[in-house]
Amino acid sequence: MDTTILRNRFREQFGTSGDLYFSPGRINLIGEHTDYNGGFVFPGAVDKGITIEIYRNGSRKVCLLALDQKENNYVEFSLDDTSKPEQHWACYIFGVCKELEKRGVSLGGFNAAITGDVPLGAGMSSSAALESVFAFALNTMFADSRVDKFELAKIGQATEHNYCGVKCGIMDQFASVFGREGCLIRLDCRSLEYEYFPFDPKGYKLVLINSLVKHSLGNEYNERRESCEKAVALMNEQFGQVETLRDANYQMLEAVKGSLTDEDYRRAKYVLDEKERVLAVCDALNEGDYELVGKKMYETHWGLSRDYTVSCPELDFLVEIASECGVTGSRIMGGGFGGCTINLVRDTIADLFISKAKREYARRFGIIPEIYHVVIGNGSRKL
Ligand code: GLA
Repeated sequence: MDTTILRNRFREQFGTSGDLYFSPGRINLIGEHTDYNGGFVFPGAVDKGITIEIYRNGSRKVCLLALDQKENNYVEFSLDDTSKPEQHWACYIFGVCKELEKRGVSLGGFNAAITGDVPLGAGMSSSAALESVFAFALNTMFADSRVDKFELAKIGQATEHNYCGVKCGIMDQFASVFGREGCLIRLDCRSLEYEYFPFDPKGYKLVLINSLVKHSLGNEYNERRESCEKAVALMNEQFGQVETLRDANYQMLEAVKGSLTDEDYRRAKYVLDEKERVLAVCDALNEGDYELVGKKMYETHWGLSRDYTVSCPELDFLVEIASECGVTGSRIMGGGFGGCTINLVRDTIADLFISKAKREYARRFGIIPEIYHVVIGNGSRKL
């Protein structure tokens, strides 16, 4: 990303120059809504993300300029403030400061300018990129990088929980911090064991299609999590040792079905199904069987749409077009409620699919969806 504008604006605003840091957004091949259920996910960092320029200002003040915000793009708060700023975007940075301090880092004030090329609200984790870039930079500047990378990811997650109202799992922040070029990460969200998985499917591409339905996670996301927790509580009561849906199986779920609402039951069942799919995809990747990977992606989509109910007509439409075009795999990516579909497409039909998806979507919804070709990149770093 060209940082000339960022550098110029920083100098104009603050009269100095600072250091540059970057954290990426992410994709996720499969394993959706499994992270907070103790399951597996398959994310990778992308080459798009959030870049900041940052400099200590020797006071207790934090001065922030968000280049891409149309209004209210300048915010100041003090590190001693106890209530969060009014601007939602600034809460992420406020939260990261508080979470670092909770872990014993003594921060000083700083000036920072922020910009990005990861689309906002597209399900590519722009918010995790924002949390991670500040966690990484402040840890470098004020703690000699003493806080380890796992903790940096947890700081981002805790920021979402405690300052932004989203009870998310660890996937997005983990991918943003730990990303590695050319690799997906198979992450066990219970133990946090992870493995880099070189991903270079010869003859296929990963393409994202942004429905441009802005997704913002909040209550609806938290409600899905609560459904899972209700099912867990019942199964734990009856069988013991069920801490998350990771510990549950279909027999247990059937045994408590009568005490669950149909909605909660279907959501829990989706998670059990997804658990099996992730394992099947691991095997398929080992065998290079991308057709099977793709089949599982479609199954995930319809599970998310019909059972987990986090889709919308626009995303379903994009997946249907993919299927009509013979695309290998297609599904909602990320939390849902809008954002992108991720598509595993054979090279030979990629152009045809993309032009048909744009045309048909525009005809139906009156806007042209955006297309991103996925490049799997590195995680948080100083530039
Ligand atoms: C959002 C959350 C993640 C994860 C996904 C769904 O991106 O931030 O923790 O739950 O949704 O897989």
